[in-house]
Amino acid sequence: MFSILQFEEIDSTNAYLKREYSNLKDMTVVTSLHQTQGRGRLSRIWQDDKKSLMFSLLLKENLNPARLSLLPLLTGACVLKTMEEYNLPASIKWPNDILLLEKKCAGILLESVTKDVLQCLVIGVGINLNDEAFPSSIQDKAISLKQVTGQDYDKNDFLNRFLKHFEITYQAYLNGDDSYLDIIRSHFYLQDKTVLLNYYQENKHVKVKGIDDLGNLLVTDGDTLKSINSGEVTLENTYSK
Ligand code: BTN
Repeated sequence: MFSILQFEEIDSTNAYLKREYSNLKDMTVVTSLHQTQGRGRLSRIWQDDKKSLMFSLLLKENLNPARLSLLPLLTGACVLKTMEEYNLPASIKWPNDILLLEKKCAGILLESVTKDVLQCLVIGVGINLNDEAFPSSIQDKAISLKQVTGQDYDKNDFLNRFLKHFEITYQAYLNGDDSYLDIIRSHFYLQDKTVLLNYYQENKHVKVKGIDDLGNLLVTDGDTLKSINSGEVTLENTYSK
């Protein structure tokens, strides 16, 4: 099902697929040992020291714009399932961060190419597998699997396990089965926490109530229940449960 292309160095596996999608098959996976211009959500940089697993997956067929917002969560559920196979108790911070010991160990970046209509989707995943240290600017927030267990993780083994989960879960998703949301809900780091939500340039404290069936964040703002489909959530040190 998957065709895998491996590079030693590339600008960004997401950028590569967005450039080359018309020459590539649905379900092409690109990995690279190093990215020179790796990127994250909200135009952030994704830096690597060759120790993290970085890959992107191309989706060209069966695209349904109405169900797009579920794909980062579906991908996150597959990362969580893979980590469970290594006995790593991870959680997810909506919409795209995977946490270990309350620090980020993986991120997901969904991008699309549209020319009149949607042409393709690219799901990029970066997982801090074997990193021993992080730049001082992020060392309080980032963690690697190796930092937690002291073990080295094989990149191909992790990727193959992830792809097995993705194949099954994505097929179910195409058939309208979103039961991977149960995994998200049972590993949901933000549940019942008060967070600072940045939504359309506005900052607000809201209480997280859950995730709805479209993958949106459910929050209460005072007495009003709201469904949030994009934005950035910050947990402050003094959050209350
Ligand atoms: C985030 O945490 O904001 C998302 C990070 C996504 C990083 C991955 S690494 C592979 C792929 N290529 C990129 O340039 N970004 C994604």
